[in-house]
Amino acid sequence: MTKARKLGVPTPVLLSVDPVLHSLTFEYVEGPMVKETFLEFGSNGIVEERLQDIATQIGNSIAKLHDGGLVHGDLTTSNMLIRKDTNQLVLIDFGLSFTSALPEDKAVDLYVLERALVSMHSSCGNVMERVLAAYRKSSKQWCSTLNKLAQVRQRGRKRSMVG
Ligand SMILES: Nc1ncnc2c1ncn2[C@@H]1O[C@H](COP(=O)(O)OP(=O)(O)OP(=O)(O)O)[C@@H](O)[C@H]1O
Ligand SMILES: [Mg+2]
Repeated sequence: MTKARKLGVPTPVLLSVDPVLHSLTFEYVEGPMVKETFLEFGSNGIVEERLQDIATQIGNSIAKLHDGGLVHGDLTTSNMLIRKDTNQLVLIDFGLSFTSALPEDKAVDLYVLERALVSMHSSCGNVMERVLAAYRKSSKQWCSTLNKLAQVRQRGRKRSMVG
């Protein structure tokens, strides 16, 4: 999370580390999960600007992580919060994150989000298209990652064991 913050991706501030209790204390981010906001759009109709703003922030944040060699590993709408006062996107739940420069790892990261959006938030339309448009604008390495994403879509997230 500290690495993500250094890359310019907002995450909760780490307040303390207790080596005896093995606990981390983070700042509490006041505001809904993106999941709640998107589900609300589904039931109350979509507020176009807000949907676009959130999708753009998601694409920009992932691009910054990936260009810095960080893969989140669990990109779902439950692991994204919207800060109430500023509408700023905050990423959480870095338990499965790792460092990698491989387009493959970044593509799978995006694919996990794509599946989550399709299964949970189809009523919001094609949010992934908006996320990827922002990612393409923001990431310097968008080309290799998105080419790989096309392959990952064909085969699913697990690498083929054949050959
Ligand atoms: N710093 C925070 N401020 C406000 N709410 C938070 C914060 N961290 C977590 N939450 C809330 O708690 C929920 C669960 O947190 P988190 O995603 O870190 O754990 P998890 O999904 O249970 O973990 P794991 O996927 O490792 O089992 C989040 O979806 C979010 O609603
Ligand atoms: Mg989580």
